[in-house]
Amino acid sequence: MMSRFLIFSLLLATCLIAFASDPSPLQDFCVADLNSPVFVNGVVCKDPNLVQADDFLFRGLNIVGDTSNALGSNVTAVTVAQLPGLNTLGISLARIDFAPWGINPPHTHPRASEVLTVIEGCLLVGFVTSNPENRLITKILVKGDVFVFPQGLIHFQKNIGNECALALAGLSSQNPGVITIANAVFGSNPDIDPKILAKAFRVDVNVIEEIQSKF
Ligand SMILES: *[C@@H]1O[C@H](CO)[C@@H](O)[C@H](O)[C@H]1NC(C)=O
Repeated sequence: MMSRFLIFSLLLATCLIAFASDPSPLQDFCVADLNSPVFVNGVVCKDPNLVQADDFLFRGLNIVGDTSNALGSNVTAVTVAQLPGLNTLGISLARIDFAPWGINPPHTHPRASEVLTVIEGCLLVGFVTSNPENRLITKILVKGDVFVFPQGLIHFQKNIGNECALALAGLSSQNPGVITIANAVFGSNPDIDPKILAKAFRVDVNVIEEIQSKF
């Protein structure tokens, strides 16, 4: 009985490890060769003998993102695309700047959990659990607070102050991806048939068409 339980627990743990983040590396590093024409799961490794210290370096995360846009926020991502040394390591980083009352709109990272810390300002944050509960888990964060958004769940942040706010987010993928809900649903290319969205959102087709015209 006991051993069966142990085997089950081990299997469960293995599954959790396998699916919680990017696959584990099988060598010290696999610096991304971003010019390789070969498609693999991740990015092809550069010859380790040609790897330089700069391959593990990104400079400029001190630079404030320009938040003069409709949302009042700016995300500066440091993923494998900006920092080739992240390839196969299952982590990345983002700087998020907020204008006063700016928002980082509801979005999800298909491949990563996110742990966010507030460096400056005060943020209202939240995520929604999956169907059928769709429970909103929300919190007001101040400087120094750390909050986690579990993998795949829709989440958002809002600056609830008259000052600019700054947050740093760690992500459990070298390439977390982002699906901004409004853009994906109302701004896809080509458009999703407005009749489908009208039923899904329980409004008239013209309401959908008006929203689509803004994206
Ligand atoms: C974010 O800030 C950078 C640097 O100022 C700027 O180049 C970029 O256009 C901004 N992005 C948005 C969405 O405003």
